[in-house]
Amino acid sequence: MSITKESELKGMKRISEVVAKTLKQMREYAEVGMSTKELDEYGGNILKSYGAKSAPYETYGFPGYSCISVNKEAAHGIPSSKKTLKEGDLINIDVSAELNGFWSDNGGSFVLGKDIYNHQPLVNASKEILHKAIYSIRGGTKISDIGYLIESEAKKYGYKVIKNLAGHGVGRSLHEQPENILNYRVKRNKERFKKNTTVAIETFISTKSTTAMGLSDGWTLVGNKGGYITQHEHTIMVTDREPLILTKSNGIW
Ligand code: CO
Ligand code: CO
Repeated sequence: MSITKESELKGMKRISEVVAKTLKQMREYAEVGMSTKELDEYGGNILKSYGAKSAPYETYGFPGYSCISVNKEAAHGIPSSKKTLKEGDLINIDVSAELNGFWSDNGGSFVLGKDIYNHQPLVNASKEILHKAIYSIRGGTKISDIGYLIESEAKKYGYKVIKNLAGHGVGRSLHEQPENILNYRVKRNKERFKKNTTVAIETFISTKSTTAMGLSDGWTLVGNKGGYITQHEHTIMVTDREPLILTKSNGIW
């Protein structure tokens, strides 16, 4: 959305703070032996305590308040009482919600407990690439240039990017224009970031796969060539200078 008045910025700041705090608290609450359903309900209660509504649950009928994807699951993992978290799991939590007509979105991957499977380098690369991408965005920056940056940074680390998942505009709904802030360059895309708009920037960095494919449950996405995928996401407001990181308090950096 385009922010045209103070009250809109205030609304976006408020919901962004709520999803950011929910994500942070869920990450801290996660522990070995806990089911992803338990973790999701904990997060759902935090959203409710602020009067916020889970975006995936309310708008898409997703069977959970947040998406919790574990290990080989790339995104949109369904919280389940049968999925128990284990030491060294690679976990992604994505929290998006609405409050007073404003929507915000954020997410992050992390390793639970001891990093026995050595996922941390992938997690760190994903965070650093998101940081670099976000701090390169100004009003007027080409969206395809940010895609190029994300893909070339991933290559430097020896990783790949997922080509069919993307960041997006956010604000008056969960997914708005620009619809596809991809992790690679599409040369014909001449679209530019606009000053005072709110967008969700997300990285999808992967060890092997380049495409996310849906499982038969209708939600969960996995990589087409296996391996692991990490995602980090912030909702930001584009300015003439460094963007305003609206979900900063999620603490992924
Ligand atoms: Co998003
Ligand atoms: Co998200």
